[in-house]
Amino acid sequence: MTFPSLVRIIDVGPRDGLQNEKQPVPAAIKIELVHRLQAAGLKEIEVTSFVSPKWVPQMADNAEVMAGIRRQADVLYSVLTPNMQGFQAALATHPNEIVVFGAASEAFSQKNINCSIAESIERFAPVVQAALAAGVAVRGAMSCTVACPYEGDVSPAQVGYLAGLMKQIGVQRVDVADTIGAGTPIKVQKAIEATLQHYDVAHICGHFHDTYGQALANTMAALQMGVWNYQSSVAGLGGCPYAKGATGNVSTEDLVYMLHGMGIATGIDLDKLIDAGVFISEALGRKPNSRVATALLNKRQG
Ligand code: HMG
Ligand code: MG
Repeated sequence: MTFPSLVRIIDVGPRDGLQNEKQPVPAAIKIELVHRLQAAGLKEIEVTSFVSPKWVPQMADNAEVMAGIRRQADVLYSVLTPNMQGFQAALATHPNEIVVFGAASEAFSQKNINCSIAESIERFAPVVQAALAAGVAVRGAMSCTVACPYEGDVSPAQVGYLAGLMKQIGVQRVDVADTIGAGTPIKVQKAIEATLQHYDVAHICGHFHDTYGQALANTMAALQMGVWNYQSSVAGLGGCPYAKGATGNVSTEDLVYMLHGMGIATGIDLDKLIDAGVFISEALGRKPNSRVATALLNKRQG
């Protein structure tokens, strides 16, 4: 069995991780988190989202955070933009990439972005065009590619349908997201297979929440298919406010440990990454939600 020799990780902690925090997190802490992630070797960071502050209050400081980060030329900074209003606000902050986000299930599309799948594509199309014209890269997040918190199982055909629409409007690469972390390896492979009808393997990212403890197994299943881009959250932060009960993405620490153990390079310094996780966890008054961080922190003390 062959695996990719290199994996690119997008840390989505500052966005997917923090968007669900009830307590206010100061912009300065978010900025420091981004700095620590890039110091640990992350080359892609999902920084914030330009969504309605009434819907997601935690991301209301989006422009302040984008203005405050000290950028490295070799790091790609991405932000979520659900519509033209969000895109215009985002563009002023100079992201390298914007992310339009749709869902493979109708119910989740309605709950998350207040429109149907077809309507969401109509909204995204001019955003994608404007971004590409401005020289900004475009990614498309596809939620609920395995299961939906409102509709239950989601078929691969629904995933293929959404991936096809994303491709048609010019989205350059897509995330296969298991929003509620209910997926298991074969189901995830089927969702990826459906996406492969429209996107090359290099343009597919795995985005696995770890609610049921399946995210690393799902990552292995995706690795077996040659997928080499993954999203994860430092300290296992997060969850989506419109996916009740869903916990964070797989922690970046756990993902990096597994990949390095398999001889797969990530360019990330695990010790520095663990320190970044401790930093944000202390700011939130808790311990990192990562088995690897816990184990290595215990070892450091011992
Ligand atoms: P809407 O209410 O249908 O929008 O919300 P609207 O166009 O009718 O506008 C209503 C109000 O919102 C107006 O303000 C607009 O100005 C304002 P008012 O006149 O009432 O004062 N508005 C905005 N304000 C700031 N930025 C904007 C914006 N757009 C409108 N961009 C909308 C539609 C999409 C805006 C709303 O549903 C929304 O913000 N949803 C956010 C959902 C969200 O952020 N979810 C979490 C991220 S997705 C995720 O976590 C999943 C992912 O991780 C993958 C996975 O795991 O599945 C990516
Ligand atoms: Mg997510």
